[in-house]
Amino acid sequence: MTAADPTPEHPWSPASWRTRPVAQHPDWPEPALGEVLDELRAVPPLVFAGEARSLTESLALASEGKAFVLQAGDCAEAFSAFSANAIRDKLKVILQMSVVLTYGAGVPTIKIGRIAGQFAKPRSSPTESIDGIELPSFRGDMVNDIAFEAAARQADPSRLLRGYHQSVSTLNLLRAFTKGGYADLAQVHAWNQDFVTASPEGRRYESVASEIERALRFMRACGIDLDAELQLREVDFYTSHEALLLDYEEALTRQDTLTDDWYDCSAHLLWIGDRTRQLDGAHVEFLAGVGNPIGVKLGPSSHPDEVIALCKRLNPDSQPGRLMLISRMGKDLVADRLPPLVEAVRDTGLPVVWACDPMHGNTFTHSSGVKTRQFDDVMSELRGFFEVCRAADVWPGGVHVELTGDNVTECLGGTAEVLGTDLDQRYETMCDPRLNARQSLDLAFQTAELLRG
Ligand code: PEP
Ligand code: CO
Repeated sequence: MTAADPTPEHPWSPASWRTRPVAQHPDWPEPALGEVLDELRAVPPLVFAGEARSLTESLALASEGKAFVLQAGDCAEAFSAFSANAIRDKLKVILQMSVVLTYGAGVPTIKIGRIAGQFAKPRSSPTESIDGIELPSFRGDMVNDIAFEAAARQADPSRLLRGYHQSVSTLNLLRAFTKGGYADLAQVHAWNQDFVTASPEGRRYESVASEIERALRFMRACGIDLDAELQLREVDFYTSHEALLLDYEEALTRQDTLTDDWYDCSAHLLWIGDRTRQLDGAHVEFLAGVGNPIGVKLGPSSHPDEVIALCKRLNPDSQPGRLMLISRMGKDLVADRLPPLVEAVRDTGLPVVWACDPMHGNTFTHSSGVKTRQFDDVMSELRGFFEVCRAADVWPGGVHVELTGDNVTECLGGTAEVLGTDLDQRYETMCDPRLNARQSLDLAFQTAELLRG
């Protein structure tokens, strides 16, 4: 029991986070916020509690070394980049990566998008200055507008509603694609996009796709009715986002009629960011009480005692699949900072999924002024993560990346050879630089090799 645990005098409720210090919260205007929250409390949930429980069951396999998690999508979804094609292309690259991982490493891939709700960003500084003018920082489209103007940077609660509705449409299309035939393994060739096909990783993918096709033909020839095999025709695709805006998350939290437990029905999995993981803070309090599977980002300042306390607080019943710890140390620190955490958690016997976010510890500002990441640094941290897990005899359970299906030039390097001089060609992210489709596929092939190794 820690000072932060709920007690009979301070029981958990969807609103109990309000009694704790709230990091990274916007300055919402009242009464506008209250009116929006009344409306959000009445809208239908995006996901159903039973789906969140299915994801927990799948993640339990990843905690036992029997599955691998691929969590991927935008750093920040954008109101302006909302289109069927963008959703489809992001899904395509995630399906491709998952085929490469499953085929290459022989373990099931659990697919979780940073999608259908990833609209809010924690910031290192509450304000931003340009040419001597200081304005509130951009906190994601669900809070304010990226334009550097005073009015645009005011927090606007109506954006919560717009974010909800965009999430509904996005999830609707994802469900149609993943359950309606588009994700059928027989379509494995169709997921390769034109600009990828001719590249080295695109060709490598084509050859994997052809082998899969051959295997399917073989099974059909053996008399297996592939049309009856749902696992080949549909995929389970889950949604996730950082649970940053607790007013929004609380309004979408509902009591499950089957179990009486509370679920945050804004997404299947919610994660706590590296800046909001304080043990006695509001974000940990809120997520401790919902039934969804939970992720926690762990940066270089994480201490073993603190991580164990987080595990106990967020998963007091030691339920396998409930908790995913996402290491994001940076390529230079992973070998030093991660082993004490992995070993400490292993020695308690508490079940967790260990995943690696090789993006957020490897961001730097290029001489042209934009934020970027080197593909080689990303791979270097991922290799470091696998080495640490292997040395501790712990299963490297997943990878968490920022990517897009588009041919953007935001991260440097890879066989795509994005150069510093290319960065301004297609730099389209709302926040952090994302891997493009080719770099993402490249990462999947290299990760499959690490998993095999
Ligand atoms: C993110 O995932 O976009 C993010 C801000 O990560 P972190 O909390 O690890 O910095
Ligand atoms: Co980011």
